[in-house]
Amino acid sequence: MERTFLMIKPDGVQRSLVGEVIRRYEAKGFTLVGLKLMAVSRELAEKHYDVHKDKPFFGGLVEFITSGPVVAMVWEGEGIVASARKIIGATNPLTAEPGTIRGDYGVTIGRNLIHGSDAVETARNEIALWFSEDELAAWEPTMKGWLYE
Ligand code: RTP
Ligand code: MG
Repeated sequence: MERTFLMIKPDGVQRSLVGEVIRRYEAKGFTLVGLKLMAVSRELAEKHYDVHKDKPFFGGLVEFITSGPVVAMVWEGEGIVASARKIIGATNPLTAEPGTIRGDYGVTIGRNLIHGSDAVETARNEIALWFSEDELAAWEPTMKGWLYE
């Protein structure tokens, strides 16, 4: 089953949106397999956003991600990588559609509340970066037959 890595950024934690974010993915029918609230080291933030290391916003992004606790999560479900990104919405909250997390709760690109892996391969790497194998729980939701034919 496909998995993705989601991270509620420091602004999402500070704005008390942790429950709201988790609610959306649970209600959709995805399965939570890993969850932790944690402070992020500079090293981890830099590794996570390594693809952006030459961009002008990289320094500010690392400062922001290390500025307070985040909620790191692994979720599972068919087609979850692309679907989770749709639920998150466009990078800039002002252009993100209403109904998406960023569209409903954000106003600026540097405070866009949540990260989601952008491809299946990226998800695999990010899950390995943020979680050890023993922090992930593989479990079979009893309602699976009501979610998948
Ligand atoms: P994320 O990786 O955080 O899920 O966001 P994303 O895929 O939607 O966007 P990405 O291009 O990967 O950018 C990573 C984060 O960098 C910040 N950013 N700032 N000032 C800017 O032009 C700019 N562009 C990107 C955003 O916080 C974005 O989420
Ligand atoms: Mg990205």
